Amino acid sequence: MRLILLGPPGAGKGTQAQRLTEKLGIPQVSTGDMLRAAVAAGTPLGREAKAYMDRGALVPDGVVIGIIRERLKAPDCARGYILDGFPRTVAQAEALGETLEAMGTPLTAVLSLTVDPEELVRRLAGRRSCGSCGAAYHLDTAPPRRPGRCDRCGGELFQREDDREETIRKRLAVYRDQTAPLVVYYRGRGLLKEVDGRGEIADVFARVCRLLGAEG
Ligand code: AP5
Repeated sequence: MRLILLGPPGAGKGTQAQRLTEKLGIPQVSTGDMLRAAVAAGTPLGREAKAYMDRGALVPDGVVIGIIRERLKAPDCARGYILDGFPRTVAQAEALGETLEAMGTPLTAVLSLTVDPEELVRRLAGRRSCGSCGAAYHLDTAPPRRPGRCDRCGGELFQREDDREETIRKRLAVYRDQTAPLVVYYRGRGLLKEVDGRGEIADVFARVCRLLGAEG
């Protein structure tokens, strides 16, 4: 399956992508995680991306399109993948469409997760992420078994720079202006499946699986 998870910051794209990865055995391809890894490694890409990310703006299209084109050629993507956080603009969606057409590998579906704005802020303000494997936790709704440590790999948990309330609101505005038009874009191509992203993580996952015909 070749899937896109679409939705505003905090909608649960990363959380659901991790579960789908385990269930379907295909990789999660997160541009946010790739950019954060580049920032942490201090590469030229990371230095360029950091200024945009810290203020809640999008990294320029050309940069992320280049990263994704390379990533989708990797052997672990041959059986499919879950795109998390890409595309985020119509220009990115068009570039992805051209790349997939050239590869002869069309998209299977675009899952659009919907959640109320105030709930998004609450989720992001309480989020903690693993510095080693990227797993996401929430202080109230999905706490780790040991405070400050990842259940999966024991890595240290941290709060993302862009999860401060002011930056969260900026990211939500950027989503509304630049990414939300993709809902219409993919609906028009017959690929969009809307998922109610509210409620328990497990319940949202059950809805996602039902839509994909991947229950059980
Ligand atoms: P990115 O890392 O993609 O961030 P985002 O889209 O803002 O998404 P988030 O990771 O914040 O939210 P999510 O939907 O994955 O939610 P999660 O599952 O973690 O991008 C960061 C930055 O990188 C961008 O601002 C931009 O600068 C740059 N960038 C990345 N991609 C780019 C691109 N393509 N083009 C240009 N720039 C790009 O869940 C959030 C929290 O909620 C967690 O704590 C989780 O435990 C909790 N939670 C999840 N589901 C539930 C539930 N059902 N109930 C209760 N809590 C829940």
